[in-house]
Amino acid sequence: MDKSYLAYMNIVSAQYIVSSPSVEKCPPADKPEYAFIGRSNVGKSSLINMLCLQQNLAKTSATPGKTQMINHFLIQSEPDEKKTTKSNARSSWYITDLPGYGYAKVAQGQRAQWKKMIEKYLRERTSLVVVFVLIDSRHKPQELDLAFIRRLGEWKVPFALVFTKSDKETQRLVSTHVKQFLSVLQEEWESLPPHFITSAVKQKGRKEMLAFIEQCNLYIK
Ligand code: GTP
Ligand code: MG
Repeated sequence: MDKSYLAYMNIVSAQYIVSSPSVEKCPPADKPEYAFIGRSNVGKSSLINMLCLQQNLAKTSATPGKTQMINHFLIQSEPDEKKTTKSNARSSWYITDLPGYGYAKVAQGQRAQWKKMIEKYLRERTSLVVVFVLIDSRHKPQELDLAFIRRLGEWKVPFALVFTKSDKETQRLVSTHVKQFLSVLQEEWESLPPHFITSAVKQKGRKEMLAFIEQCNLYIK
């Protein structure tokens, strides 16, 4: 990534809009949208709060299965004027917080229903720019995550990887897990997606992710 873009975005406001049970019930698809998905309890809601610097924007929980619908958050951002000569216009875009996959304690019927809802959302939401797939950086590559990424490929949904909870392990081990994950992907994909290493606790990866989103917003304008 072009490092000169780093920190070229400030979040002006972040606001919860609505929770929708299906793609049809979502707000009009009139703004760039960035979805956050991954295994249950991987840290999706915490990451959204960290990016927006708002503790209680998305509901987090130590118990998996907290997020159950498609949750829209409206974000207003502006370029960091000190550092950019590009357009200073404000951007409005959406973040969506999605239910996690792979939570064993959810009844099979409900799991199947979530799966259908998520697939329909990912395939039919026309304003979706990128899906951030969150991976727990404490573990070796997991088949569940790899299988989900394969499905995204089949559906031709653009995605980026986010390795979460990096504060919980040594940098060395996190880096090993990231390398292992990317090398598995390399066996199946021609090119690797962008990836970020984050910690919601330490605010790690925030600038990099916001800079990436800003770049995408500018590109699609
Ligand atoms: P579901 O909505 O249930 O699928 O979970 P989620 O993926 O939204 O996870 P959530 O953000 O609710 O976080 C789950 C747990 O992990 C909470 O106890 C968080 O405090 C913790 N957690 C999330 N991110 C981090 C992180 O970067 N570092 C540490 N140490 N803990 C984290
Ligand atoms: Mg959640």
